[in-house]
Amino acid sequence: MYIPVILGTARQGRQSEKAARFILREALAASLESEIIDVRDHRIAATDDTGSSPQAQRLEEKVKRADGFIIVSPEYNHGYPGELKMMLDMLFWAYAKKPVGICGVSSGPWGGARVVEQLRQVCLAFHMVPISNAVYFPKVQEIFDENGELKGKSLQGQAQRLLAELIWYAQLLKAAREKEPEESRSP
Ligand SMILES: Cc1cc2nc3c(=O)[nH]c(=O)nc-3n(C[C@H](O)[C@H](O)[C@H](O)COP(=O)(O)O)c2cc1C
Repeated sequence: MYIPVILGTARQGRQSEKAARFILREALAASLESEIIDVRDHRIAATDDTGSSPQAQRLEEKVKRADGFIIVSPEYNHGYPGELKMMLDMLFWAYAKKPVGICGVSSGPWGGARVVEQLRQVCLAFHMVPISNAVYFPKVQEIFDENGELKGKSLQGQAQRLLAELIWYAQLLKAAREKEPEESRSP
């Protein structure tokens, strides 16, 4: 199972990268093949849904191969970063019928709860299957030590529940996708 971790902000000094690296370690520990898909590597000047840019083609290669996705995103003014949406918008059908787990990050106490809800809506538009479990990283400046390790264990439980649900859906949906011909994949 290949389930990449999408890191949703390109901001200089971003704290969300620590959360994404933690989730990546948990995904690898769960025997998934994974890597970080960084919005910094897929930046474009304006929304482009032609799929023809090198950024879109690099992304499409990974998205087509993926059995599911994990998105790690900070909450910016109660929403998602624009660069994350622009990256997702470069493709459309390639995400369809694949599960997605969402992790919110914030410096405040709510762990990006509002961005998790908003991203679920967006993912539905791509015909992804958003799962119920989420990971909420509150007070992100305080919860990691200087080596980028989580100080407590409570978020590890959240991450493991998210991964277990994601793998369950990924296996189910992969089997279902394999039963249908490629040309009828678009929902
Ligand atoms: C433009 C901007 C808007 C923000 N809006 C929110 C917000 O709505 N809610 C919140 O909890 N934190 C908000 N924050 C603070 C982030 O939670 C904080 O920067 C945290 O470190 C996660 O984002 P990062 O990955 O960019 O570091 C905002 C930060 C920026 C840069």
